[in-house]
Order: sequence, then structure tokens, then C-alpha cells
Amino acid sequence: HLHSLADMPIGVAVEAGGAINSILTSTPRQAIVEAHFDTVTPENIMKPFLLHPQQETYDFANADALMDYTVAQGLVVHGHVLIWHAQQPDWINNFAGTQADWQAMMDDHIATIVEHFAQNYDNVVSWDVVNEAFLDGGGSQLRDSVWRLGVGDDYIARAFTSARSAAGANVDLYYNDYGMENNGSKLNSILAMVDELQANSVPIDGIGFQMHVNMDYPDVGTFKQALAKVVSRGLKVKLTEMDVARSTLDTDRISQLTPEMQIALADRYQALVSAYLEAVPAASRGGITVWGITDADSWLNRNTSRLEFGVLFNSDFTPKPALQGFADALIEA
Ligand code: G3I
Repeated sequence: HLHSLADMPIGVAVEAGGAINSILTSTPRQAIVEAHFDTVTPENIMKPFLLHPQQETYDFANADALMDYTVAQGLVVHGHVLIWHAQQPDWINNFAGTQADWQAMMDDHIATIVEHFAQNYDNVVSWDVVNEAFLDGGGSQLRDSVWRLGVGDDYIARAFTSARSAAGANVDLYYNDYGMENNGSKLNSILAMVDELQANSVPIDGIGFQMHVNMDYPDVGTFKQALAKVVSRGLKVKLTEMDVARSTLDTDRISQLTPEMQIALADRYQALVSAYLEAVPAASRGGITVWGITDADSWLNRNTSRLEFGVLFNSDFTPKPALQGFADALIEA
């Protein structure tokens, strides 16, 4: 029972809808989720292309079916995601309107989705409001997403303000991105954004570190420094999409991890979870979510020529030593 060892949310990404690995139709996945996690993030089912397929059409049926399951199991939900440049419906990508039209459209999109869940359920405790707004390279500028081009450079501030009015004061609102644990330039750009949002009293509660990391990167010291910089802004930090890919030096195509590799993965999970617990004081912990239940579910295995083994359970639903590594970090804290 991983989550019972922690005083913070311990989550996992789950599929729903018609997915072959939907949590709603997979008894072994349900057993894992119900035993080890207290939080779920919908891996895809709450993304805009599914919830808001046409400008005047919202489709909540599949997300609601997942919500009903979480309510029945006493799980809470981290909503993912309101504003992102990927997995959007074509009508948003092609939206032709004035800046005022874009602003009204974004406000309606956020308000309708957040209010739907707030009015029908009381267990959506946090949202990824804006995802991946920054580019990776040196300087890490804002990405020219359709939202930035349509709404204006202040679209992030506007999105958080809309989300707060719809969600109420008790839901944590996150900016979520990847690579900040290992890319100081990107982290600094995001911290500059945070400083500006806070200077303008924009309601942001936390930063989500996706944590799609690997056996080599980030090193624990760099990671802890990055976390501490966010904590110093008074924000929560949540590890929102954690998985650990193989070492980039490790190029063999293997069909399963060797026992030695399983131990190394366990050690890596233990080190990263311990680093989080050391760098982030209890009041600032948004918790840790792993991005997928088993290796068969993991996005790391979607477009890859070699298999990855980055999550806590093997494809046959057996726990990896990494589950114990995660637990050991919680026990030691
Ligand atoms: O819905 C279709 C389905 O109808 C079709 O049969 C199937 C065939 O491949 O594809 C399905 O769509 C897939 C979708 O996941 C839902 O399963 C897409 O092809 C696939 O590209 C998509 O991948 C998701 C990816 O986001 C899209 O960018 C991954 O599952 C999901 O893990 C990944 O998650 C993102 C986070 O949202 C944001 N952070 C990075 C993270 C990893 O990329």
C-alpha cells in the first residue's frame, strides 16, 4: 500500500474510454490502483480533443465514467489538461477570430470544463491549467502556440484567472512542464513567469515537474536545487508524470529488465523520491504521480524501437523492485 506510507498524494495515470487498457475494464489494473494509489490523473480522457470536440459541443461521458469509478473507490483526481498546444481539436487549431473572440473562447473552454467537474464531483483536487508553454532551447522563450498567438502573451495569466473563478479557492492550480529538473534555462524562464504572475496576483498554486527522466539524468543535486527554487516562491511542487527511461548508454534491445537492472531502477526511484522529500517541505508537497500503471501502458513504449521499463509494475502486473524503492524512500523520510 504505497500511498499509506506517505502524507502526500501518491498517484498514477490511467486510461479510460475505449482504450484497450482502460482502468474501467481491467480488473488487474483496478487491483493495483486501489491497493497502492490515492490519486489518479486521466492520461488522455480529459484532454481538450476529447472533452471539447467542437466549439459548441462538450462530451463528458467517458470522463464522467472515470470520475464515477474514482468516487466509488475514494480516489481523488488531478485534472489534465486545460490549455496545451497538443491533443487539441482541429477547431481550436483553426479558430479564426479576433483577439477578443479568442479570449472569450478560452474563458468558455476553461469555465465549462472546470465547472462541469466542480459541480458534479467533489474529488477533482487540482488541475494542470497550462501545459508546456515554454520552448526547450537556450533562452527558453514562450512557445508560439495558437493560444499565445490568439489570446496574447498574457494567455497564461488569463487561463489561471479563469480556472480560479470556475474551480473555487480549494482546488490547486498548476503550471506543468517537462525538463525543468535538468534544464536550468527552461526552469529560469518558468520562474520568471511565476514571479510575474505572483507580482500581478494571478492565482497559481504550484508547478508540476512532469519528471520524464532516465537512469542518468537529472543528477540528484541538480534536481534538488530546481525543486528548492520553486519552493522558495511559496508554491507547491508536484511530480506529475514520473517515469524513468533506460540509460541512453544502454542501447541493447531487451525484452525484460535483468535482475541487476531491476535493482538499479529501484535505487533510482528511491534516490529521486528521497530527493523530492528532502528538498520539498511537507506543506509544499503536491505529491508524486507515476505516468502509467504497467510497462504495457507506458507512453515510453508507444513510439520506440526499444522497450522501456520506466514505471512501477511489469507488463504482467507484478510489482517491480522499484515499487519497494519508492516505498523505502517514503519509509525513511
Ligand atoms: O484515441 C486514439 C485511438 O482512437 C486510436 O485507436 C489509437 C491508435 O494509436 O490512438 C489513440 O490516440 C492516442 C492517444 O494517446 C490516446 O491513447 C494517440 O495516438 C497517442 O499519440 C496519444 O499519446 C499520448 C500523448 O500524451 C499525446 O501527446 C500518451 O498516451 C500520453 O501518455 C501522453 O502524455 C503526455 C502528457 O499529456 C503531457 N506531458 C507529456 C506526456 C507524454 O508525452
